[in-house]
Amino acid sequence: VARSIPPGNLPPARPQGAPRPSSPEPADLGAYLRTAWLGRASAYHQRIGSTQDEARRLALAGAPHGFMVWAAEQTAGRGRLERRWYAPRASGLWFSVIVRPGRAAPALAALPLAVGAAVAGALDQFAPGVVRLKWPNDVLFEGRKLAGILVEGHTAEGVMDHAVVGVGINLRPPPGGFTAEISDRAAALSEATAGALLETAVLAGVLGRLEAAYDELLADGPGLARSRWLALADTIGREVVARAGGVDIRGTAVDLDEAGNLVVAADGELRVVAYGEVEHLR
Ligand code: BTN
Repeated sequence: VARSIPPGNLPPARPQGAPRPSSPEPADLGAYLRTAWLGRASAYHQRIGSTQDEARRLALAGAPHGFMVWAAEQTAGRGRLERRWYAPRASGLWFSVIVRPGRAAPALAALPLAVGAAVAGALDQFAPGVVRLKWPNDVLFEGRKLAGILVEGHTAEGVMDHAVVGVGINLRPPPGGFTAEISDRAAALSEATAGALLETAVLAGVLGRLEAAYDELLADGPGLARSRWLALADTIGREVVARAGGVDIRGTAVDLDEAGNLVVAADGELRVVAYGEVEHLR
């Protein structure tokens, strides 16, 4: 069900003694949202396969710039590199937003980088000083993954018609804890902060940063996104193995270029890594 969420200034009243909701409450978002165009119209689902798939479907059907699909639970969440993304109920924020750049695709090369810096910057507000970025855009707490980002662009004749930006943020460990498969690699924002976390306040904070990052990228190019990313980077200066297309490059991560590529010093030369993933060795 698509609905518009009006802006507002005060959190809605909750009956005294009523239990705190364990999932995002759509009605709460308008109370915290300060964006001009991002997330102002959205479709909220208690349960969905993947917000990414649904947003892509809606984008192809003409949904507007800034439209958001969000869910309390995903049963078929997707990550980068065709991985699954575990998104159980009451444990995180799972959402996908549609942007419509209408620009030549190379101008958007740094979009994933800008999104990573924006999400990490927003979470840093809730857990100051402990949030880091692993190339390309994994958000980490103590080396474990707090949030993941999936950016899928739809380009026709060299112009990016739309992109679907998917963000998954672990707010708290699911009831019963993370599954054994991911328990040593996953973290939740609740571990990184002593404060109470209200889902919709965190979501509004992330959307605010995302909107600013997107507007900044289109107006000024990727320079600021790059410096914001570098300010929170955990990868630069580390020994890494970069894996892309079946090739392993082992060396020192030395820089990030303006297209979001990782520059690795390996065997006496600089190699530019455009996709794939890195493992931090030390
Ligand atoms: C990654 O780190 O590999 C990216 C994870 C992206 C997960 C989010 S959750 C909301 C949106 N819907 C999906 O199916 N995936 C993204």
